[in-house]
Amino acid sequence: MNIGIAITDQNDWTTRALIQSIRDRGASPVPFRLSEITSYAFDLPETGGMDAAIVRDVGAGAFEEVSFKFDLLRILAEEVPIINTPESIQNAANKYYSLYLLKKSGLPVPETVVTCDVDVAMDMLDRCGEIVIKPIFGYKGIGIRRFRSDPDLFDSNRNFIEEILSKRGVLYLQEFIPMKRDMRVFVVGNRAAGSIYRYARNGWITNLSQSGRPERCVPDPEQEEIAIQASNAIGTAFAGVDIAETGDGLAILEINGTPSGKGIFEACGVDVTRDIVDYVISMLSKRI
Ligand SMILES: Nc1ncnc2c1ncn2[C@@H]1O[C@H](COP(=O)(O)OP(=O)(O)O)[C@@H](O)[C@H]1O
Ligand SMILES: [Mg+2]
Repeated sequence: MNIGIAITDQNDWTTRALIQSIRDRGASPVPFRLSEITSYAFDLPETGGMDAAIVRDVGAGAFEEVSFKFDLLRILAEEVPIINTPESIQNAANKYYSLYLLKKSGLPVPETVVTCDVDVAMDMLDRCGEIVIKPIFGYKGIGIRRFRSDPDLFDSNRNFIEEILSKRGVLYLQEFIPMKRDMRVFVVGNRAAGSIYRYARNGWITNLSQSGRPERCVPDPEQEEIAIQASNAIGTAFAGVDIAETGDGLAILEINGTPSGKGIFEACGVDVTRDIVDYVISMLSKRI
């Protein structure tokens, strides 16, 4: 059995772990880069004898580049099963649409407003006392800004928010949730395969790529259930679900459709890529 892996960085921990887990199950890993595929006219790209494929990473880039990579995945998905599906990765990457899907499924999300109107943003800041502004297609905690409502800061807040609006054309605003840590639950299929708390080391952003510190976490059944339902609402086969513990419950911050397994391995010794590979193999065995 040949299992493709769409990768961008061959030294990435999750890429290497996926390759090893595939080998450990007696299958052959076929790593490939979407950026190296040429599509002649509208011929289907070569599937290289793959029986299925796992998307580790699509990679960031300009609109046309990313769009082409997703089209390649969509075309490949006509030939072989791919997890995560390109649609679910796109759902997850879009912080507006993903929160819409979560809310529609009755799952808890922070108060969030998306607008092109600075006055709406200033009203929200006034109402919430503190907000964050995030890129809709952001990742790794990059580009997130926090604002505190204060009459003395009104002009500087407004100027800064106008600046963000002029750069991005739209504002994704969210109530700021005070917390010393958040939770990352790694869901595979209908199971929480591993979880960590993430503590911010500098300031308030907990992403491990921003030097956040992972710590072992055993989610309670409610937390597990919410993470599994969140992954199902987005349509992912595996996902990293970021959850904040608020004063009166939980709030899902976002879903990652191409999550890293490194932090969970380091903090808990759990290799979630084994679960991902087992999921693909059982998916294939059900198809036959
Ligand atoms: N509404 C919020 N309140 C408080 N902290 C937040 C909020 N949203 C995000 N953060 C912090 O910023 C980090 C990154 O935000 P997230 O929505 O997960 O985007 P990214 O895709 O960049 O990881 C979170 O892990 C958390 O530490
Ligand atoms: Mg996140």
